[in-house]
Amino acid sequence: MRRWKQAGFFFVIMLPVACDSVQDVADNHHARMHGPAVTETDDSSGIKAGTEQGHELVQRYCSQCHDAPSAKLHTAEEWPGVFVRMQGYMQAREKTVPLDDERVMIIEYLEVNARQD
Ligand code: HEC
Repeated sequence: MRRWKQAGFFFVIMLPVACDSVQDVADNHHARMHGPAVTETDDSSGIKAGTEQGHELVQRYCSQCHDAPSAKLHTAEEWPGVFVRMQGYMQAREKTVPLDDERVMIIEYLEVNARQD
């Protein structure tokens, strides 16, 4: 009995140390090889007046996982659905989720500057 307890103790102490380096490699690998496909990234030129704050929020929140995308990637009809999917990822991965008023500004920015179709 006593022997097992000691082994358990040792395991708990050593595990985080071992995991750190493995996780670093995995993170790098993930970022390089399997990063989400945001094909057109954000740039601040040509942003419609009144949506600058939403633009800043996109840069802040959306770049937690990949480059902040250009609003031109989707139409105004498509963006809310994409946003809801992204918010699900944020919750699942325990990233910072936009507050209610920030969410309104983000969606407005995306819709107003969206691809016209
Ligand atoms: C918690 C991580 C995470 C955050 C934060 C995040 N995304 Fe994503 N995003 C992903 C993942 C994973 C994918 C690839 C899988 C997919 O498309 O569902 C992706 C793919 C995308 C794509 C390409 C796929 C498509 O449907 O066009 C766009 C555009 C996008 N994200 C927009 C956004 C926007 C806008 C925000 C900020 C509001 C955001 N993302 C924040 C994880 C995230």
